[in-house]
Amino acid sequence: MSGKTIIVTGAGGSIGRAAALILARRGANVVVADIVEAAAEETVRLIRAEGGNAVYSHCDVSIEDNAWSTVELAITEFGRLDGAFNNAGLPPVSVPLHQLTSADFQRSLDINVLGVFHCMKHQIAAMLKAGSGGSIVNTASVGGTVAIPAQGEYVAAKHAVIGLTRIAAVDYGQQGIRVNAVLPGAIRTPMLMSVIENDPSHAEFLKTAHPIGRYGEPAEIGETAAWLLSDASSFVTGAAIAADGGYTAI
Ligand SMILES: NC(=O)c1ccc[n+]([C@@H]2O[C@H](COP(=O)([O-])OP(=O)(O)OC[C@H]3O[C@@H](n4cnc5c(N)ncnc54)[C@H](O)[C@@H]3O)[C@@H](O)[C@H]2O)c1
Repeated sequence: MSGKTIIVTGAGGSIGRAAALILARRGANVVVADIVEAAAEETVRLIRAEGGNAVYSHCDVSIEDNAWSTVELAITEFGRLDGAFNNAGLPPVSVPLHQLTSADFQRSLDINVLGVFHCMKHQIAAMLKAGSGGSIVNTASVGGTVAIPAQGEYVAAKHAVIGLTRIAAVDYGQQGIRVNAVLPGAIRTPMLMSVIENDPSHAEFLKTAHPIGRYGEPAEIGETAAWLLSDASSFVTGAAIAADGGYTAI
């Protein structure tokens, strides 16, 4: 990743921070994008403390201008954009469909789907302008391929993320832009813990659903994303790569 510039959205959060640190350790300049400044600045501090390069971009992915200005910052600060990990997301509200409000459904679409679209649109435009290709990884979920009980708006949104990933891979493959999705199973993060707190019966389900017998760690998703962002995955595009402890193998 040496000398490459990578945007990571949701980089103040668990998976995003882990990925940002892994990418910076491999030599990437990282644009740490998040809506929560304090968390993102902490990621920047951690990267710099290890001697890496990082800059914060205030970014609400549901606002198209913020996605655009994050790409602009990557280019003004580091001169290029080679890749992006579009990872910002909202947790499920965890109620069955008949109790789900339209407002909660819309909020999930705005951040989990439109947010990925906004980011990809401006990242791809910059990559096309530079003409040197690139690699984009979107965070979906196992909920992007199978249903997770009582997570209607989240499952619908993550299915859409995989659809967006595939169409972008098809549309821009000829221009050397690869686009893939990573599908985490249950990862030990505050987001997961908040789901369990809202619905305690979920805890046992989440554990038994993973044949590997445990939750994943944020760095295990970061490693998968880093591989997809690197040239080591040069023939992989349009793929939905599960990093789920076997969740979707059952
Ligand atoms: N934790 C899991 O078990 C799990 C499983 C499958 C998929 N995922 C996905 O992984 C991604 C990262 O989740 P996480 O577990 O690290 O959660 P997290 O809450 O730790 O991180 C999410 C980050 O996204 C940021 N964010 C939220 N709304 C935003 C917005 N509008 N604009 C920009 N940033 C915004 C938050 O501030 C936070 O830093 C999400 O897309 C989530 O859906 C998580």
